[in-house]
Amino acid sequence: MAGEMGPSHSDSEAVTEDTIAGHPVLENISSEPGIVEVELTASKERISLVPGIETDVYAYNGRVPGPLLEASEGDSVIIHFKNNLPEKTTVHWHGIHLPFVMDGSPFHPVEPGETFTYTFRIHEGTAGTYWYHPHPHHHTAWQVGMGLYGGIIIRDPDDPLPDTLTEHLLILSDNRFDEDGEIEFAEPGSRQERVDDMNGREGDVLFVNDGIMPELSIQSGETQRWRIVNASGARIYRLALDGHTFTHIGSDGGLFERPKEVDEIILSNGERAELLVHGTGDPGSEITLQDLPYDRYMPMFRPSNWDEKNDLLTLRYTDESSVQEPFEMPESLRKIPELNVDDVTETRVMRMSNGKINSKTMDMNRVDETAELGATEIWDIRNLVGMDHPFHLHGFQFQVIDRNGEPVSQRKWEDTVNVPGFESARFIVRYDNYPGKWMFHCHILDHEDQGMMGVLEVK
Ligand code: C2O
Ligand code: CU
Ligand code: CU
Repeated sequence: MAGEMGPSHSDSEAVTEDTIAGHPVLENISSEPGIVEVELTASKERISLVPGIETDVYAYNGRVPGPLLEASEGDSVIIHFKNNLPEKTTVHWHGIHLPFVMDGSPFHPVEPGETFTYTFRIHEGTAGTYWYHPHPHHHTAWQVGMGLYGGIIIRDPDDPLPDTLTEHLLILSDNRFDEDGEIEFAEPGSRQERVDDMNGREGDVLFVNDGIMPELSIQSGETQRWRIVNASGARIYRLALDGHTFTHIGSDGGLFERPKEVDEIILSNGERAELLVHGTGDPGSEITLQDLPYDRYMPMFRPSNWDEKNDLLTLRYTDESSVQEPFEMPESLRKIPELNVDDVTETRVMRMSNGKINSKTMDMNRVDETAELGATEIWDIRNLVGMDHPFHLHGFQFQVIDRNGEPVSQRKWEDTVNVPGFESARFIVRYDNYPGKWMFHCHILDHEDQGMMGVLEVK
């Protein structure tokens, strides 16, 4: 259950492991209040992803996904990172507002055998669900595909939701394996390689955390809090729960102002969602969380089974009904400061075509956009082609103001916005606190690696 288990320093540490929201947690080695200090090592390991089969993977602290990083607003986070991989890597703290040198972008690789200490302070108002993953130039899809990704929960000491709610963090990913059980990447020059280049690499084995079709339980009448991360390199999820609605309560940058009742949620690569799931079913029954068909493809490259739904996990009702007090939804979750269009000093147009942004591919020695620290600007993201491209900006959370010219009424913080084929979206952003060179890119990792990325320099 959320927040009840702090780091343990008992002798039995080797056998019992702390878990939060269903995840093993990075142990806080600091005893000072307000400091979260952890050790994170990336290494090559041989572990079992698919039951009964051993696979060569890249892992954080020996696990896929990596252990959960948990901190609270106001905390100082110190991560002692060691790269034991046979190649360079970085750790990128996707969505977290932090200094440029701590962003783990391709500008700051950590060489094999080297260490780097990431330190940053968690800003007030940023409680939410985030994740970490490598971001080495041209090798992100490969390293994430090999198993490097993990969840982050940032807590608000004054969270409006009761901490008695059972909490689950669901990290969604997919992968594919060859006959020997090894993670499979397309052969150079193969047709599969062309498909992966275009669609991004998808796999037919769908994981929720470290399991395939894991089972969660709920009591009839109970409300649970779910946090979901799309850590897939290319798959976009359209999530639905058999005959149940979700109360959508948050996005990339934390809680909404007001909850919203929805039947399904589309979660593109890198995005997060916070939900409440209400146990409206009967004791003893079970339902399935599904990934419904979602057509994000160019017609020529659309997989033949794109219109099949995939099962992700089973939610089983226990035999007894909940004895919990029925949950009362607060009317307001929090206040999100509005970024004001009257303050906007510049509009930047991003034209996304396949593999390129504004007709350019990524060049580490080029700055594509220059902006002033503290400025408020609009980004106008236009997708010129017939497949989805989820657009991600490092360093700063933004607010989408319209899609295809239609105003978006719900104010929320996001760092990734999916732009379906031939559509457009505009967001407003303010470059607070941190100068530096910030990446923006398509979060289909193969597209990012192909160079569908650019650099915004804030100074
Ligand atoms: Cu999650 Cu630049 O990435
Ligand atoms: Cu990022
Ligand atoms: Cu893309």
